Order: sequence, then structure tokens, then C-alpha cells
Amino acid sequence: MRDHFDDVTLAGDGFVLRPVELSDADAIVDGASDPQTLQWLPLPRPYEREHAVEWINNHTAPPAFPRVIGVGSAFAGVIDLKKTDWRGRTTEIGYWLHPAFRGRGLMADAVRLLGDWALRTQEMERVEIRVATGNVASQRVARSAGYVQEGTLRNAGFLHEGRVDLIVFSRIRADLN
Ligand SMILES: CC(C)(COP(=O)(O)OP(=O)(O)OC[C@H]1O[C@@H](n2cnc3c(N)ncnc32)[C@H](O)[C@@H]1OP(=O)(O)O)[C@@H](O)C(=O)NCCC(=O)NCCS
Repeated sequence: MRDHFDDVTLAGDGFVLRPVELSDADAIVDGASDPQTLQWLPLPRPYEREHAVEWINNHTAPPAFPRVIGVGSAFAGVIDLKKTDWRGRTTEIGYWLHPAFRGRGLMADAVRLLGDWALRTQEMERVEIRVATGNVASQRVARSAGYVQEGTLRNAGFLHEGRVDLIVFSRIRADLN
């Protein structure tokens, strides 16, 4: 049975999804320190360089899978496949963008590319996105990427502000056209 995703670089329209490198550390610190990032993800706060270096060192080889969203030579954000159940063939996408790359629909394109790749080529049957009920931008990303809203998981998430309800979205193999 497969137990990790292929360690690939995926090419999208104007961006790539590539492995993370130590040279991404400063950009990761910058993007992860943004108040909106820290509002919706329970990352260390303050987010220091040592956090980025430790995270990179723990996520450069399979089974870890995060991809950097690269635009030209610039770091634009991170997208990951996590909580993967290889026997059940389900996985979950998580993501954040550096503030300089928000507001142009980039994440919806990245989510569609990565999720559909997982469904088409990595034996996945279902890809989930879980979003706090207050995180409207991320909910729009999920819908724009072709994910179907299923329901609300009560008290299922934690952020710096405390416990939150999570809306669950999914895309399944049958949704592919
Ligand atoms: C979520 C995130 C990746 C989206 O970035 P993006 O791809 O640039 O998304 P946009 O800024 O284009 O916003 C997506 C949509 O939501 C809308 N939107 C953004 N903020 C909004 C708000 N506060 N209220 C209503 N709509 C909003 C945008 O107008 C856009 O609409 P469109 O689909 O009609 O174009 C980015 O905001 C981010 O990194 N947030 C912090 C981390 C995070 O929330 N991660 C996800 C955790 S589940």
C-alpha cells in the first residue's frame, strides 16, 4: 500500500507547487507573522526564524508533503496535504498565503491543482478542507476550487482566540470531470 505522496513539483498557470527549502525560511517567517495568518492558523506567536527552520527541517522529505507556492522566484505561500489516511484514501488540504500574494485568486488555483492531482494520480478518493466559520476568504477559496460544503463540525478547531466550529468541504473522485 502507498504510504506517501510523490515528491513532485506541479506546474500551474503562473505558479508552481514545489518542495520547501531552507532558503524559504525568511519568507515563511514574514508570511507566518502576518496577523491574518495567525488569526486563522494556530502557529507559534510570535513566529521566529527558529520555528521556520525547525518546520522546514521536519518537512523536506516524505511522508511530509508541504509544497511552497512559487511565483517566479518568489515564495508566495504554503499548501499541504495532511492527516492522510492511506487505507481509507482520504486527505486534507491546509494553506496560507503571504499577504503580498493575496487577492488574486492564487490559492483557489493551487487548491484545485493539488487536490485534483491527489484524486487523479495519488489514489485518493476524498480531499477535505476544514475552515473556521469566521474565515470567509478561505471558505470562498474552497468553493472556487470546486469543493462542496457538507456541514459544520462543532467545536472541532482551535485557534489562538480559542475553540471554533469548522465548516467541512470536500471534493471526491466522482466530482472530477
Ligand atoms: C485564505 C487565503 C489563503 C485566501 O487568499 P486568496 O487566495 O488571495 O483569497 P482572496 O483574498 O482572493 O479571497 C478569496 C475570496 O474571498 C473574498 N474575501 C476575502 N476576504 C473577505 C472578507 N473578509 N469577507 C468577505 N469576502 C472576503 C475575496 O473577495 C475573494 O472573493 P472571490 O472568490 O469572489 O474572488 C488567505 O486569506 C490567507 O492566507 N489567510 C490566512 C491563513 C488562512 O486563513 N488559511 C486557511 C485556513 S483554513
